[in-house]
Amino acid sequence: MTLFDTKPKSDPRFLYGREKELDGLVESLKKKNWVIILGPRRVGKTSLAECAIKRMGRKIFLLDARENNNFIESLNKLLATPESSLKVKAEIRVPYTPINIGAEYNKTLSKKNLDSLLKKVGHIYIIIDEAQWLVNPRKVVMLLAHLYDYYYDSVTFIITGSMIGVLKSIVEPGPSSPLYGRAITEMEIKRWQSSISLSFLKTGTAELGLRLNEKMAIEVEENLDGLPGWLTLFGYNYAQVKNPNIALTKTIKEAKKIVSQELKSIAELGIGTPKLIEVLRVLAKEPVRFVDIAKATNFNNTSLSKYLSTLNRLEYIEKDSKSRYFISDPMLLKFIEEKARD
Ligand SMILES: Nc1ncnc2c1ncn2[C@@H]1O[C@H](COP(=O)(O)OP(=O)(O)OP(=O)(O)O)[C@@H](O)[C@H]1O
Ligand SMILES: [Mg+2]
Repeated sequence: MTLFDTKPKSDPRFLYGREKELDGLVESLKKKNWVIILGPRRVGKTSLAECAIKRMGRKIFLLDARENNNFIESLNKLLATPESSLKVKAEIRVPYTPINIGAEYNKTLSKKNLDSLLKKVGHIYIIIDEAQWLVNPRKVVMLLAHLYDYYYDSVTFIITGSMIGVLKSIVEPGPSSPLYGRAITEMEIKRWQSSISLSFLKTGTAELGLRLNEKMAIEVEENLDGLPGWLTLFGYNYAQVKNPNIALTKTIKEAKKIVSQELKSIAELGIGTPKLIEVLRVLAKEPVRFVDIAKATNFNNTSLSKYLSTLNRLEYIEKDSKSRYFISDPMLLKFIEEKARD
């Protein structure tokens, strides 16, 4: 693994500039606290979760909701893996497809079966990654509340994602939420300040025996902002093509493609993506206040607040000190600008 490896980092040695966050997370996990990691896309939430478990010398279990959006099914699969493999201290990713499924695995496993499986486990840390893609959020939250009450000593969950859907009910557990009253630690991961982005680029390129002059590093940082994901992608491309200008162009092109794929997946969730894009188009021109977005789009106030709150939960937009909304990911901004020109 190198600093510019594009997979989420699972080894703390390659997790750059997150010492405080890592210490904080390990501290919480040692106490078996459940933790929710929130933050913009590509800021390093999954990496942080994996590195913390690794730091504790424990096995990483990761349920990726993008690969299997049925939480109960994927949890059952995980727990049905042979007991011995649940206890081995090795780094593995949980099979999303049924490899290693024990005889007890059965698609219709009930809560009762789940209980009996959990009793055998001892204690495990499970990352629920990208929780916003899980189907049937209400059921998921109910199951989590059950696990919290009866299996706190057996399972510790680290939940990552943006605040849509299931996460909203966990993050803001109002009295009507099944998780109401359970203590869950919330951590927010911020993008890097420019000095950290620059030293990340410098350290990562030096590690590969490449050089990146200060001017170019600043140009990369200005284009990609302090998002570790885009900076890592640049580093990866630079190592391939060896020319920083070509690498930057390639990175921007790929990043726009990734963003566009994401918007497509959101469209599949049926949450009014064309309307969201209309709002994004207005924001792409300049930061704007609520009333001005309403004027530009002709959306009524209720609909517009709904769209803005969805965009906010997807971590696509933020609000500045003058109450103006703006697009927070520079690659999403570029993508929307181009789409507007089509
Ligand atoms: N602190 C870090 N040091 C080095 N590389 C990092 C760091 N944080 C993130 N990365 C890299 O950035 C990319 C995105 O990281 P990761 O997948 O952990 O972010 P995420 O917040 O979970 O993203 P997403 O919202 O897409 O799930 C990966 O290539 C990862 O290796
Ligand atoms: Mg992630």
